[in-house]
Amino acid sequence: MSTVKRTWVVNGERWTVDLPPGRRLLDALRNDLGLKGTKEGCGEGECGACTVLLNGEPVTSCLIAAGQVPDGAEIMTVEGLEKTEGGRILQEAYIERGAAQCGFCIPGMIMSSFALLSKTRTPDDAEIREAHAGNICRCTGYEKIIEAVKLAANRWPEK
Ligand code: FES
Ligand code: FES
Repeated sequence: MSTVKRTWVVNGERWTVDLPPGRRLLDALRNDLGLKGTKEGCGEGECGACTVLLNGEPVTSCLIAAGQVPDGAEIMTVEGLEKTEGGRILQEAYIERGAAQCGFCIPGMIMSSFALLSKTRTPDDAEIREAHAGNICRCTGYEKIIEAVKLAANRWPEK
């Protein structure tokens, strides 16, 4: 079975992977790169647990064929958050507002938060809800998550 080689920048580091046919981006990140923070919930694009940023845009990595992610692509997973000031701010805000309970949804949820605040530092409620519409949380309730995003927005660093 032939593989395809790809070189990506993941969380600021260069990685080269050999991908068998049909390998999902989610599996490449978790199994080939050992970045287990990204979770698999539904595996069908419905829950958002597998959300990562691909060139700054949130994507459901369970639906993306890894071989179709081109060389040089920039990928950010939840492990990359602590390398950024905004990511650290978001993590603290989620904790302060009690936005994480079981935590299963959080790796995907917080990546959607990061993508939103990277684009706009002053999102309104509707924009926050829209940005997280693809992320399902079964236990915290969305109000605390929205509050956490608002708190992080207030602390978001100037560019
Ligand atoms: S695991 Fe990808 S959207 Fe649910
Ligand atoms: S914190 Fe449990 S699913 Fe969201």
